[in-house]
Amino acid sequence: MTENLIAQLTETLSHFGIRGTIGEIFEGPLITDIQFQPTTGTKFSTIAGSIKDIARELGVSGIRVSPVVNSTYISFEIPKPKAQTIDFVPLLQSEEFINTTGALPILVGVDMHGKPVIKDLAKMPHLLVAGTTGSGKSVGLNSFILAMMAKKQPEELKLILVDPKRIEFSMYNKQRYMLCPPVTDMSMAARWLEKLVDEMNARYAVFEQNMVRNIGEYHAKGKKMPYIVCVIDEFADLILSDKNVEKQVQLLAQKSRASGIHLIIATQRPSVDVITGVIKANLPTRLSYKVSSPTDSMTILNMAGAEDLLGRGDSLLLEENGTLTRTLGAYAPNEDIVALLAPHRCELEDIDYSGIITGQQIQTQTQEYIAQQEKAKEDALNNGKSGGFVAKIKSYWDKLGKPMQRRIVSIGIAFVMALINNKSSKKSALENATDAAVKSAKRSAKAQAKQAITKTILDSLNKK
Ligand SMILES: Nc1ncnc2c1ncn2[C@@H]1O[C@H](COP(=O)(O)OP(=O)(O)O)[C@@H](O)[C@H]1O
Ligand SMILES: [Mg+2]
Repeated sequence: MTENLIAQLTETLSHFGIRGTIGEIFEGPLITDIQFQPTTGTKFSTIAGSIKDIARELGVSGIRVSPVVNSTYISFEIPKPKAQTIDFVPLLQSEEFINTTGALPILVGVDMHGKPVIKDLAKMPHLLVAGTTGSGKSVGLNSFILAMMAKKQPEELKLILVDPKRIEFSMYNKQRYMLCPPVTDMSMAARWLEKLVDEMNARYAVFEQNMVRNIGEYHAKGKKMPYIVCVIDEFADLILSDKNVEKQVQLLAQKSRASGIHLIIATQRPSVDVITGVIKANLPTRLSYKVSSPTDSMTILNMAGAEDLLGRGDSLLLEENGTLTRTLGAYAPNEDIVALLAPHRCELEDIDYSGIITGQQIQTQTQEYIAQQEKAKEDALNNGKSGGFVAKIKSYWDKLGKPMQRRIVSIGIAFVMALINNKSSKKSALENATDAAVKSAKRSAKAQAKQAITKTILDSLNKK
């Protein structure tokens, strides 16, 4: 099977005038990696430029070609007819993960040879994630969170999970690890980011008092302070609803590394209004799942390529030092997530805020948030009772989704504009009518005046 593929590849390459020798072959879960040493003088750009045609001749979609670091070989990553799914739980129990020592290890997945890829969020120190809908972002975020939870006790790690879609993180509610219930309201999310900035500043003041420079040194003195990780799914919704968010993210991204506060930000729209220059400059570690265009790939990775990924967890990890690794995310089915979370369920009042300097404030804000959500639920219910029709319409409206809502609104606006135009033409008809009336009145007044004058002259002449 692989022999066949090698023969086909060398044959196809020769059609494009590319010759060389085959090196090592790696069978991964997603692709077969064939390493190839082109004859001297062959330009990499020639091969890369023909890769779409090479793939077409081979009858496969999405071959990726890249130079092998520190070698004369290039690697052809040829998709397998059927991709293997990487299960999350066995990876969590792998020797590599058990032996990893980072402060906040996250399981990115496996590399193209099937080896676990484990990275320390504390060193990144923040992660920017992009990918179109269905590319595997939320699956990835869940596995990152669960990996950190597997390595840290609830008093060592606290989470803020922001999820405008309301479904992705709902099972984390009432987890000992949570600083607050999953945040679904965007204005609240912006306030939580502000709180994180306060906490960061408060931590630096404490470090100063204790004559340490960072959370690691603080822990070394035997003091307690949990790491805080804020995960934002669908960042576009947040930043487009509140521009101040950019400022908070910038402050955190620039300064929070030593304070033990870290961000994971995911977006399906890696456009420049979402991933602004400021955010890009401050989040050098990026993970891109399949994106919809080379432009999106450029925005997130500074290079094209992520548009050719295969979806379902296929991703490119760009690290701060510029290394690029193709990774395949691990997948935890819902029942596995539920089982992993079960031991950490508690009542919200039992969540431990010790070691969080602004803990009291955060607790108060959490209470307010819960009260607000309860009230919103109650309102919705009352609405349902008294004006069921309105509630129904609202729920249909919510279900339509943004693009459809936008279309309906624009049709509505067009309709109103048409009405106004129509009205204004009526108005001008009225004006015309008035104008005409005034004119004729003026005319008749003039005529009357003329008549009167003529009469006066005639009278005076007659008198004479
Ligand atoms: N690593 C993976 N392995 C296998 N299947 C995956 C993986 N990641 C995602 N999928 C599949 O794709 C679907 C969509 O993934 P999801 O993470 O919800 O996408 P996104 O959040 O980017 O819209 C999942 O429900 C799952 O079926
Ligand atoms: Mg998602």
